[in-house]
Amino acid sequence: MGTSTVPPLNPEAFDFDASISWLMHCTEGPVPLASLRAVKDVLVLEAQPWRVRWQEDFQGIPAAARKTVAQLMSADAADITLTATTSSALTVIAQAYPWSVGDEVVLPLAEFPSNYWPWQALAGRGVTLRQVPLWDGQVGGAQAWSGRPPTAEDDVEGRLLDALGPSTRILAVSWVRFQDGLCLDLPRLAAGCRQRGVELVVDGIQGCGTLVAQLDGLSAFACGGHKGLLAPQGHGFLWTSPAFRQRLAPAGSWLSVEGAADFRRPSTDFERQWNVDGSRFEQGVPNLLACAALTESLRLLLQAGVSTIADHVKALQMHLLDALSSMPPWRGEAERLIALFAAGRLGSFLPLHHGHRDALAGQAFLDALLAAAKEEGVYLSAREGYLRLAFHGWHGLWEAERLGEFLRRAK
Ligand SMILES: Cc1ncc(COP(=O)(O)O)c(C=O)c1O
Repeated sequence: MGTSTVPPLNPEAFDFDASISWLMHCTEGPVPLASLRAVKDVLVLEAQPWRVRWQEDFQGIPAAARKTVAQLMSADAADITLTATTSSALTVIAQAYPWSVGDEVVLPLAEFPSNYWPWQALAGRGVTLRQVPLWDGQVGGAQAWSGRPPTAEDDVEGRLLDALGPSTRILAVSWVRFQDGLCLDLPRLAAGCRQRGVELVVDGIQGCGTLVAQLDGLSAFACGGHKGLLAPQGHGFLWTSPAFRQRLAPAGSWLSVEGAADFRRPSTDFERQWNVDGSRFEQGVPNLLACAALTESLRLLLQAGVSTIADHVKALQMHLLDALSSMPPWRGEAERLIALFAAGRLGSFLPLHHGHRDALAGQAFLDALLAAAKEEGVYLSAREGYLRLAFHGWHGLWEAERLGEFLRRAK
């Protein structure tokens, strides 16, 4: 793969300061200027409510958001539910699934908590939660810093599929994991789940926008908008397969039933069916400001093409890994990540592990590194012992080189 030097997203589409390298979309993506303008337009409209048009604005703005999400996901807009967050999307499923006492949910060990608490909350209904270590030596929880990082040889999907038992109803995974950055093979998990009659539910937030999503065989895909999708905090979506959605109890409200927006029919006529599409789970009127922003952010991504962005990100990742492999302190990590990269196991950020330091020393090392980087205008993040370096479509080769030079000096 050649290194692409032309960013597929024009940096001028953002409110960037030229001295800053924002390598933290795995924490929060920058909202493009077009999305800012779209929010302002809706707010100006809402300041003069007599200008709000029922079809075009009140219903049209959320409809455009559903449609654009569907385009991004190569999905049907009827399968999209607008949600506030990843967590609220997963909570819809957890609360709406037809559980029986003794049912089980399986999770990889050490998921981001958005994919833990909604399932744990079912304990009172007799549903158990089982976490499966993805590789020998993986450590989660309070001791997470002391585990070893994954390698290309670790068969994480095999472990998950082997762990599914007769009581397992749902396997819930992150597409790309928030700390170690592993990108799970969703088609393989989907095929294994289908064979075993288990529903596969995915937290997609760390992959969306920088990787091309494949929904085939999935039951549900939950995603907040504020990372790789470049939308503001507090707005996201849930995709559900029609068959899975039918199994879930309606969890929506007044706009989730047939003819709800037709005020010529008395609203208190409760003789109605629940909608069968994704609006079945929506909680009243979606946030119009956030819908408008999400739509614009996704349009920007779609114009560039997510697969083009994904190739660009990979090219920058490989460029940096090549440089790190000639730096003795980073060589081991670079080799581990190059092997993961070649196996297609790396997601939207490079996760450099703190190494053989003990937890305290590792934490101090990463804290110092983040602070020194920030001094130079390079914004990085760390989670559970991994330094996260997140490229996106607007980054240029010069930023990969700048980061390489910074890491060369890091002790
Ligand atoms: C894997 C993962 N899921 C979910 C979230 C965020 O969840 P929510 O959209 O519910 O705030 C994050 C990070 O904030 C994450 O890394």
